[in-house]
Amino acid sequence: MSLTALAMREDFPIFLRTVAEGKKLVYLDNGATSQKPLCVIESESNFYKLHNAAVHRGAHQLAQEATEAYESARAIVADFLTAPGGADEIIFTKSATESLNLLAYTMGNAPSGNRFALSVGDRIVVSEMEHHANLIPWQQLCARTGAELVWFGLTPEGRLDLSSIDDLISTRTKIVAITHQSNVLGTINPLDAIVDRAHKVGAVVVLDACQSVPHMAIDVTALDVDFLVFSGHKALGPTGIGILWGRMHLLDELPPFLFGGSMIENVTMTSATWAAVPAKFEAGVPNMAQAVGLGTALQYLSGIGMDNVHHHEIALTSYLLNELSRVPDIRIVGPTNTQSRGGTISFTIKDIHPHDVGQYLDSQGVVVRTGHHCAWPLARSLKAPASTRASLYIYNDEKDCDALVDAILGAQKYFGRL
Ligand code: ALA
Repeated sequence: MSLTALAMREDFPIFLRTVAEGKKLVYLDNGATSQKPLCVIESESNFYKLHNAAVHRGAHQLAQEATEAYESARAIVADFLTAPGGADEIIFTKSATESLNLLAYTMGNAPSGNRFALSVGDRIVVSEMEHHANLIPWQQLCARTGAELVWFGLTPEGRLDLSSIDDLISTRTKIVAITHQSNVLGTINPLDAIVDRAHKVGAVVVLDACQSVPHMAIDVTALDVDFLVFSGHKALGPTGIGILWGRMHLLDELPPFLFGGSMIENVTMTSATWAAVPAKFEAGVPNMAQAVGLGTALQYLSGIGMDNVHHHEIALTSYLLNELSRVPDIRIVGPTNTQSRGGTISFTIKDIHPHDVGQYLDSQGVVVRTGHHCAWPLARSLKAPASTRASLYIYNDEKDCDALVDAILGAQKYFGRL
């Protein structure tokens, strides 16, 4: 039986257009951003058309409707993540990058005595497969506080090398910031061992779930992490909206991030006190329409069922890995089987630069990402300074995988390598 798409391509207006002079759009750049179903586009535009007003401010009907829509979206996100403390544990940011910067920056402002206050001798643990967004904020926090940054290395297959976990995550460790699924390798990391060890030494675990929340059922209680971030636009939602989830008692302990309207309890000319979480972290008029659009996107995904999403992607990944194994001179950068990996497949082709591969694929209507994928240390570690990345989602099918393989073979012919 051939693998058909899980979502109707008709739901996504962009698939009505063609690319590369009339060719079907084969969109395999879902790791970068996902396409949007019409219901999400309409939900965002209906907010502006029908309910637009600044949330949490006005006493008028529009403000109430806007606030209701915005807060309903927060509740949808909480349900989607199975947040134990409900909607109050969900912070809207503009992106996952902002969520991670919020954490690292506010931890850097923690006064002495606060559980997040770091100093010389403390440690932050990351891994060599982190996206720059889950690396540089921690580098900066170390630079501000004198804490030491240490990291898990990788096996040649592109999995975390946990052999020194007890040394890396020691009693000195305050924070472990780790990706759930690599945006380059597709590797899904073994969180149980990491979370167990981190909690044993009293460290908190920050999970970068940008590449997992859109693709599998996530239950933060079961994962037992302490903070989780993801971006809306990779999960069928709009750009400009990201999520920070945290355990309520930890969010309570963090100092605020941005200062201004709506994040205060009381203000005098010389001082201010802070509103309760989540308002404490949402200064200024937020990205309201985008939050509402994200709520609709998560409802759309829930309608399909996140287990179905995951199974579809695993089946498609298995098919694509098998088909790619027929391509001569290809190297898969990352696991070559579907064990603990998702539908992101990076590869290099001998003697053809990834940018040339990407450009040729584009001429065939096949859209991929090329380069270091914002994970430069990983690229260096696996000796693949640049690669071509195909990343799958619900609207992809077997034909899309075939189109990719045909286009790679075409590139090899075009560049005289076949
Ligand atoms: N972080 C996104 C990616 O990996 C943009 O492509």
